[in-house]
Amino acid sequence: MTQLPASIDDTITLLAGQNYIAGRDLGTVAFLALKLGKPLFLEGEAGVGKTEIARALSSALGRRLIRLQCYEGLDASSAIYEWNFAAQMVAIRTAEAVGQTDRAALRTELFSDEFLIRRPLLEALEPQPEGPPVLLIDEIDRTDEPFEAFLLELLSDYQVTIPELGTIRAAEPPIVILTSNRTREVHDALKRRCLYHWVDYPGFQRELSILRARVPEATEKLSAEIVAFVQGLRGEDLFKSPGVAESIDWARALVALDAVALSPDLITDTVGAVLKYQDDIAKIAGAETTRLLDKAKAELAAVG
Ligand SMILES: Nc1ncnc2c1ncn2[C@@H]1O[C@H](COP(=O)(O)OP(=O)(O)OP(=O)(O)O)[C@@H](O)[C@H]1O
Ligand SMILES: [Mg+2]
Repeated sequence: MTQLPASIDDTITLLAGQNYIAGRDLGTVAFLALKLGKPLFLEGEAGVGKTEIARALSSALGRRLIRLQCYEGLDASSAIYEWNFAAQMVAIRTAEAVGQTDRAALRTELFSDEFLIRRPLLEALEPQPEGPPVLLIDEIDRTDEPFEAFLLELLSDYQVTIPELGTIRAAEPPIVILTSNRTREVHDALKRRCLYHWVDYPGFQRELSILRARVPEATEKLSAEIVAFVQGLRGEDLFKSPGVAESIDWARALVALDAVALSPDLITDTVGAVLKYQDDIAKIAGAETTRLLDKAKAELAAVG
């Protein structure tokens, strides 16, 4: 089992080993979450690396990644456990066929481990050979308040009670990462259990490092122009600003076209990798594209 990082720098290096480029702010809060054994609550715009950090941490630490994707209407049974109803029915029929009459024994058998379907939250409480897993509770803002209240309970004592089986308690708590796109505010009580961090768009240097790590086949000039252009776009009044995911996709698209530098035509042809709303695309079309590109190049020249 890989040791937990011993310092903030260690944490940043560990993540960089997985091509995840964290700033000092995120590195600090991630280090503390690991050190203090507290859940990490990450909020931020789409495509800024909230989900990816859980993946990076789990591979860096050699821990299993257990992901609970939240959605509207997610209930406790889909998140913790369910009974395998179909298999239970078969077992009942079989018992009938062989003339088994001991109802108590049948009941015990039907609600035993064999018929239990483990969902992510239960799995995360059970011991794993590699050590406590990384539990990613992704996009919690999509669930409703009752589910949040339930999570709050789970995150306070890391145990769940299955009426037929008893209480299952994690010997060692999992490493928990919660993410939210802030489509609604998550309850204070839940946030209070966690270390909170707002994941912002990276600055120029960090985004360039991310492109170097993720799209090494892009030339340095192309990557720098992409980053400068995208950073400029984030300053425009758009319906949906591009995230890091879009910069990466765009770089890959441009590399696929053998591009080594940006031009207004190339931008127009590939803009769908960066902007996903027609209104936004229309807003930066034509002369705007040239203006934004000139501005990006001027900024690049200024930073040398
Ligand atoms: N700091 C980073 N270092 C390396 N890659 C990054 C970083 N931030 C984002 N990425 C890349 O950007 C992409 C999007 O990241 P991710 O899916 O984690 O975003 P997200 O914040 O969870 O977005 P959403 O809210 O849409 O789910 C991934 O492919 C990830 O590899
Ligand atoms: Mg995500």
